[in-house]
Amino acid sequence: MDAAASIRRVGLLLWVVIAFSGVIFTAAELQRFSHPPKDDGSLSLLVVGDWGRKGEYNQSQVAAQMGIIGEKLEVDFVISTGDNFYERGLKGIDDPAFEESFSKIYTAPSLQKEWYSVLGNHDYRGNVEAQLSPHLRKLDNRWICLRSFLVDTEIVEFFFVDTTPFVDKYFNDPGEEVYDWKAIFPRPNYLSNLLNEVDSALKDSNAKWKIVVGHHTLKSAGQHGDTQELLHQLLPILEENKVDFYMNGHDHCLQHTSSMNSPLQYFTSGGGSKAWRGDINWMDPKELKFYYDGQGFLSLQITPSQANFTFFDVFGNVLHQWVSSKPLLHHSAI
Ligand SMILES: *[C@@H]1O[C@H](CO)[C@@H](O)[C@H](O)[C@H]1NC(C)=O
Ligand SMILES: *[C@@H]1O[C@H](CO)[C@@H](O)[C@H](O)[C@H]1NC(C)=O
Repeated sequence: MDAAASIRRVGLLLWVVIAFSGVIFTAAELQRFSHPPKDDGSLSLLVVGDWGRKGEYNQSQVAAQMGIIGEKLEVDFVISTGDNFYERGLKGIDDPAFEESFSKIYTAPSLQKEWYSVLGNHDYRGNVEAQLSPHLRKLDNRWICLRSFLVDTEIVEFFFVDTTPFVDKYFNDPGEEVYDWKAIFPRPNYLSNLLNEVDSALKDSNAKWKIVVGHHTLKSAGQHGDTQELLHQLLPILEENKVDFYMNGHDHCLQHTSSMNSPLQYFTSGGGSKAWRGDINWMDPKELKFYYDGQGFLSLQITPSQANFTFFDVFGNVLHQWVSSKPLLHHSAI
């Protein structure tokens, strides 16, 4: 081999090493969607979770009320907190459940907006790649479902986090259930990368309000209770970065909890279909502001200075309301 050839070889080898270390060491960034607010700078949206049951268990009644309230509030988009298709996600990209539980249910004109969706544990029991596939957007262009991503609306930034892979039980004690973990292994890397991505996205955010969305509970008086893995791994990042609100599903109820030692407020909107479990662990009312065991959904109207959360039942009745305010201008210390 002549000198020039061996130099070329070393060069190629170096290039390969550099290219691979780039793949390994470059922290990925969460995919970002921009969604402008209304002309007056406000934004309104609905939040629903735990819904896909082909209209049963009052799913259709909840959908109809979402349509009516959605029109009144002129919602800009809808957030789904996961468990989108029962019992076991989608079987494939052509699974009729996508239309039977989504397209043919949420038919009101006001709901023909983006549906930013995360996955729940039931979605992980089906074909996850199918539910994330861009093919579904061809069937219904509202559908935007990723594992983790950001929606930037100027006044609010939403951070959607894939919470199912945090829960040990699904790995250690899955019982009869089979989960689609293909993209998750090796799990420790997946979780630590995700936490880093969420932390750095929160640190980079200049939005007035920061809202994190996941399927699983952080704090809950419902059947599943708190999710210990998230309290230990995710909550410290939310507190450190002064997240205002955490919104989730998983418990099939409507719920608002506060915490004694932080301004963070928690909203569970998991009443999209089957509910009425009847197993509530009542907490201190200083923390548990509101709990409704039945079906319904949540609205959020938000401006740079005010966030108005309202829970509705299947009849469109207002069940609970919570308003948070922020000063419009930062006051500099004198
Ligand atoms: C549907 O909603 C009504 C009113 O809240 C409730 O009485 C009924 O039990 C619900 N049905 C189911 C199947 O959950
Ligand atoms: C909050 O929103 C609800 C539902 O649209 C509305 O009834 C209520 O008047 C609003 N409250 C405030 C303080 O904006």
